[in-house]
Amino acid sequence: FSKENQSTLSAYEWLTKLYHHLLRFTKDGKEGYQYLKNRGISDNAIDEFQLGFAPNVKDFTAEFLKKKGFNQALLVKAGLLSLQNDNSVTDRFRGRIIFPIRNHIGKTIAFGGRTITGGEPKYLNSSESELFQKGKILYNFDLAKKHIRKENEVILFEGYMDVISAYQAGINNVIATLGTALTEYQAKLLNRYVDTVVICYDGDNAGLEATYKAANLLRKVGCQVKIANLQDDLDPDSFIKAHGGDAFRNEVLSTGDTYIHFYMRYLKKDYNLTLEGDRIQYIENILKELAQIDSSVEREYYLSEIHKEYNISMQSLTEEIEKLRSNQG
Ligand code: GTP
Ligand code: MN
Ligand code: MN
Ligand code: MN
Ligand code: MN
Repeated sequence: FSKENQSTLSAYEWLTKLYHHLLRFTKDGKEGYQYLKNRGISDNAIDEFQLGFAPNVKDFTAEFLKKKGFNQALLVKAGLLSLQNDNSVTDRFRGRIIFPIRNHIGKTIAFGGRTITGGEPKYLNSSESELFQKGKILYNFDLAKKHIRKENEVILFEGYMDVISAYQAGINNVIATLGTALTEYQAKLLNRYVDTVVICYDGDNAGLEATYKAANLLRKVGCQVKIANLQDDLDPDSFIKAHGGDAFRNEVLSTGDTYIHFYMRYLKKDYNLTLEGDRIQYIENILKELAQIDSSVEREYYLSEIHKEYNISMQSLTEEIEKLRSNQG
């Protein structure tokens, strides 16, 4: 690390401790603590994830870091302080819950900050730098790693709060991307640790689209994927809050779909299956996907489902698949 980066890391370390202490034990952090309590987050989880609160006081953080001897220009560059029009500085994250974002060896390299007053943006992240690239980091990967190895499976969420809620419910092999689409870098990283990635994105339309993209990327790099079965516009955190950890395990994670079943569901949005023409096109698209599967047992399993559901003979389905496979070259 360069000297500048060392100093930035050190500032993050001080602030992580400071904000966490303020949230846990002081009046300055009380509204942050109350917010997390209202969302059902335990003290234990607050400590484990080093959650904190940046007080809504203009020069609080700047003064603290100045006393520690940090160079102000560097802190502005690191995205911790914002320069005002009158050349004074303020804390970029003031008034927000702080989610320290740790690298693979557990060092804080960035913050995610959530508003507690409904302000915009809902989450503010440290800006990208040499030290912090969103596309290379997975939230909680450092803590989850040993659980991921042990279970040979990882659960991939959209948000920080999903990770923390699942952790609280005793599910520890959990990570999240940082509000951006899963990257090839992240997919390859996961493939080095596990066979299976369970994608558990929010049960809304954006979540469905993101699931399709992530699933294909993960399959491309060699991971098995399972798609968790989250519906009704809930996200994992709100599901756990509403129905509990056991229901999440039994009704969402364990009943996950194979990629093909997910794809059958995903593709339906493009067609009106009560129309004959649409139905045929839909089935042909599914068959194209099935033709990519090398195991004949697996192919036949899905073909017999289509046979039953759409009343097409096994013989024509098999012929069609063979034709598609021989064209693949
Ligand atoms: P809660 O409302 O606190 O439960 O957050 P959430 O995680 O459910 O939020 P959402 O599903 O909307 O977003 C998922 C993830 O995307 C968050 O955890 C953030 O990492 C990121 N994100 C959400 N909103 C914003 C935003 O306004 N700006 C940025 N940069 N990231 C965001
Ligand atoms: Mn969402
Ligand atoms: Mn969400
Ligand atoms: Mn949420
Ligand atoms: Mn299924």
